[in-house]
Amino acid sequence: MAKGNMQKVLVAGSTGYLGRFVTEEFKRQGYWVRALARNPKKLEKVGPFLEPTVKDQIDEIFLGEVTKPETLRGLCDGIDIVFSSIGITRQRDKVGFMEVDYQGNKNILDLALRASVKQFIFVSAFQADLLKHIAMVKAREKLVEGLSRSGLNYTVIRPTGYFSDMTEFLKMAISGRVYLVGDGEKKINPIHGADLAKVCVTAVAKQQHQIPTGGPVTYTHAEVAELAFSVLGKTPKITRLPTWLVNPAVEMIRPFSKHYYTLAKFFTVAMQLNFDAPKTGTHTLKEFYEEIAPQFVKKPH
Ligand SMILES: NC(=O)c1ccc[n+]([C@@H]2O[C@H](COP(=O)([O-])OP(=O)(O)OC[C@H]3O[C@@H](n4cnc5c(N)ncnc54)[C@H](OP(=O)(O)O)[C@@H]3O)[C@@H](O)[C@H]2O)c1
Repeated sequence: MAKGNMQKVLVAGSTGYLGRFVTEEFKRQGYWVRALARNPKKLEKVGPFLEPTVKDQIDEIFLGEVTKPETLRGLCDGIDIVFSSIGITRQRDKVGFMEVDYQGNKNILDLALRASVKQFIFVSAFQADLLKHIAMVKAREKLVEGLSRSGLNYTVIRPTGYFSDMTEFLKMAISGRVYLVGDGEKKINPIHGADLAKVCVTAVAKQQHQIPTGGPVTYTHAEVAELAFSVLGKTPKITRLPTWLVNPAVEMIRPFSKHYYTLAKFFTVAMQLNFDAPKTGTHTLKEFYEEIAPQFVKKPH
């Protein structure tokens, strides 16, 4: 149970890549942690991108499903700070981005307002203004609008790409060839979940509504591809796909799968932009690739 003036935090998204690191970081910094989970078994295992087991870092597990408000009663009661990284990435549920990334998080926000939570920390995307035509970003930015009108102290963390997503380059390198969109010279400083978690936790009590952030090293996409090959000890084989070819090709996915279309659109549009955010953290992509490559070579995701 919480002692004295210990701050109480709700982590929504605790079973995911970022949520696990955030759970761990809140606990490390002395918070009492309630974790929302629909599948708590996940909390007992290491994640697919080597994110930590967090069951022992959690004071209370709240079983619930963000898309079913009737399962969330009491979720924010007694809570000072809500953190949410809930959203669709690789999940294959039959629900869309508006239902999860927006409405799911809105259900939590409504409960936070009723429970007099002091701060809501939400994760959206870096340079969202340039990505708002993509369903995933549109849904998250709709929640950001709701937060800004709510009267609650809120913070939107705006990260570049996570190391978990940078495994896409590694997977391509494992299969023999990396395909880049455009000339490969666009830049990104991706961030490790542990470094991003520190940004999320230190956002507590700040009056900063927007925190754009990325990792300590900026690479071009071609450099990321070369790094992946070098970690695998392979000669780089890189194909640069012209944008006039990629953009219409992605549109062709649309009639077949809204889900894959949105994900492909997000990644291909993002690869045509520079994602070079204010730098933080210590983890390098090289170390992460070296750590995760053996398990990917064995069994690519
Ligand atoms: N990845 C990036 O490069 C990047 C960059 C910028 C911003 N972001 C944003 O950051 C967020 C978190 O990323 P992440 O990599 O930590 O994602 P993740 O590993 O997929 O975790 C997402 C969390 O949301 C929950 N969730 C997803 N669909 C759900 C549903 N239908 N009902 C209930 N819960 C659901 C997951 O629960 P389960 O474990 O039960 O599925 C999980 O706890 C994303 O939504 C994304 O918009 C990501």
